[in-house]
Amino acid sequence: MHTSDFKIASNRTQRHRVINLQTKIFNTSEQDLVEASELIKGGGTLAFPTETVYGLGADATSNIAVAKIYQAKGRPSFNPLIIHCFSIDQIKAFALWSSEAQVAADKFWPGPLTMVLPLLPESNISSLALAGLQTVAVRIPEHPIAQKILKLSNTPLAAPSANPSGTVSATKAEHVISRLSGKIEGIISGKASKIGLESTIISLLNEASILRYGAIEAAEISDVLGINLKKPEQDEKISAPGQLSSHYAPRGSIRLNSKTIKENEVHLGFGEVDSDLNLSKTENLIEAAANLFDFLHKLDEMGAEKIAVSPIPEEGIGIAINDRLRRAAAPR
Ligand code: TXA
Ligand code: MG
Repeated sequence: MHTSDFKIASNRTQRHRVINLQTKIFNTSEQDLVEASELIKGGGTLAFPTETVYGLGADATSNIAVAKIYQAKGRPSFNPLIIHCFSIDQIKAFALWSSEAQVAADKFWPGPLTMVLPLLPESNISSLALAGLQTVAVRIPEHPIAQKILKLSNTPLAAPSANPSGTVSATKAEHVISRLSGKIEGIISGKASKIGLESTIISLLNEASILRYGAIEAAEISDVLGINLKKPEQDEKISAPGQLSSHYAPRGSIRLNSKTIKENEVHLGFGEVDSDLNLSKTENLIEAAANLFDFLHKLDEMGAEKIAVSPIPEEGIGIAINDRLRRAAAPR
């Protein structure tokens, strides 16, 4: 383990406080993971790899620890966090479990599915993490390091994606190091996230519905549950939380479904096209999903001001890729 050289003072917009933490970078050895989990137990914030994207975790039962996540990300406090657990028993202590949830869990957990369930009155989850709602989003991740940190910390972890609010999610430790050093207590420097897109979110409240497209296809979940998941409403008011329309935004502007490229544009290609970066030359959507956020980070580093993206088929995980690209292209 070594201490990061980065000492980036955050800008002064957040209540005029300059955060300048010493961010510890951990490797994935047993000893480092034990030390990293001590940070969590002490009420600190820790970025760690999951199979979808890197998460920024803190003890979900502590308002103070959770407040640090919102502060580090600059995240609006009305936007609730996903609560990560290592077992269904751990979830049953604060959320109302159902046979429907069990069917989904049997098929998709551990893995890239998040379920929104009713909150139990005796829940000890921070109300800040839930943005005051009486519902809670839960996920059991599959990644061995995420599981290890959850077990060692022995508490549910609130963990949004480990990126400043509204910007591109982190799929590599280096993305987190460059964007959040100085703002969080620790980062586990693992490998790149295998999937590269966030979990699919379903609501199992009154009418089962899909809230966010993601790694698992909505059609597959509908099949397993034996019902048709209701589709998300466009630009839903944030009082029904979920997705902000502008999100995942790189610094440059984005033009979608571009078949011809203008002279002043950088081309993010898909398929057999001549491009600056290519999501998948062989039109493999899984490969494209894994590359998407990393390439958006790279375009930022290249200083790309105008980005033209090739059309991506609206099928399989392409549905989630297009969802992210539409939000990245939305007016800011
Ligand atoms: O793959 C993932 O889900 C990653 C990894 C780290 O697990 N996490 C992630 O968290 O993407 P975040 O905070 O970036 O996105 C969580 C989404 C937000 O859009 C939030 O509004 C929604 O989940 N959400 C959380 N609690 C909710 C609730 N009770 N009802 C509806 N939506 C909720
Ligand atoms: Mg996010």
